[in-house]
Amino acid sequence: MKHFTSVQDIGPLEQALAKAREVKKDKFAHADAGKHLTLLLVFFNASLRTRLSTQKAAENLGMQVMVLNIKEGAWLLETQHGVVMDGDKAEHLLEAIPVMGCYADVIGVRSFAGLTSKEEDYGETVLNQFIRYSGKPVISLESATRHPLQSFADLITIEEYKTVAKPKIVLTWAPHPSALPQAVANSFAEWILTAGYSLTITHPKNYELHNAFTAGADIVYDQEEALQGAHFVYAKNWSAYQDPFYGKRLHGDPSWIINERKMALTDNARFMHCLPVRRNVVVSDKVLDSPRSLVIPQAANREIAAQVVCKSIIDSIKTKSI
Ligand code: CP
Repeated sequence: MKHFTSVQDIGPLEQALAKAREVKKDKFAHADAGKHLTLLLVFFNASLRTRLSTQKAAENLGMQVMVLNIKEGAWLLETQHGVVMDGDKAEHLLEAIPVMGCYADVIGVRSFAGLTSKEEDYGETVLNQFIRYSGKPVISLESATRHPLQSFADLITIEEYKTVAKPKIVLTWAPHPSALPQAVANSFAEWILTAGYSLTITHPKNYELHNAFTAGADIVYDQEEALQGAHFVYAKNWSAYQDPFYGKRLHGDPSWIINERKMALTDNARFMHCLPVRRNVVVSDKVLDSPRSLVIPQAANREIAAQVVCKSIIDSIKTKSI
């Protein structure tokens, strides 16, 4: 694996899931694989799970890990080319990224969508500069359009908890007080459809996602109809993708909350969310605190997903296929 930025990079999902099962059996089976290799985790945005799980996964493989929080103690970085740097940004990515590449063998990057320019966000301007200028393998820790480590962990979780071969999986938009990126929803749809599952997506009108991610999914505007017979309910807020609303929070209709009444429409569905989650806005306490909730197993599987990805990149470095 050269870089890990989407489901396309991981190869056949059956093999990736088999590797995940192996990691779960013994996280320290390859405890020296990453010896003398350094992973740098660069965060332009906040994180709890991604930071801890990726660091832990890399350390399970013997890697050294450095974390750089751009907003805490680092120079603020300019990401646009051709600008006059007379503002608060003291350093350009064009220098900063190659410098990071001098100190690290693998670089993980978290850079959320700015939600002001669809062209910039969907052009992945920050992630692609890391790939272009670092000279090192790059792992997406959530980019403007995708969150592949989260989606891999979500798929592992669905495989572990499904009770029928072809479960009904529903991705539902949920309310939120802020405008959030589409990355988690895009990525979840991409991974679930690539895994060969059918997917139902439900959201209010004008919250349609980019069809590059959702082609093949059933789009149902009536949430209660969509939830009928579901085995997994994945709730997530996202801002509008379609023009002229790109990046906007059009409304936060509270009737889209996932609560016990909605879950009663399903076939004993499991509740999923990537976290962090707004209690009693996105989902009720009773659903989140019920045995049907998988949010903690999902988070635990973030370490497993990251370890499969790190090991694959280590193997590529060692065989000099990068
Ligand atoms: N789900 C997720 O990526 O969590 P963090 O934002 O805390 O890393």
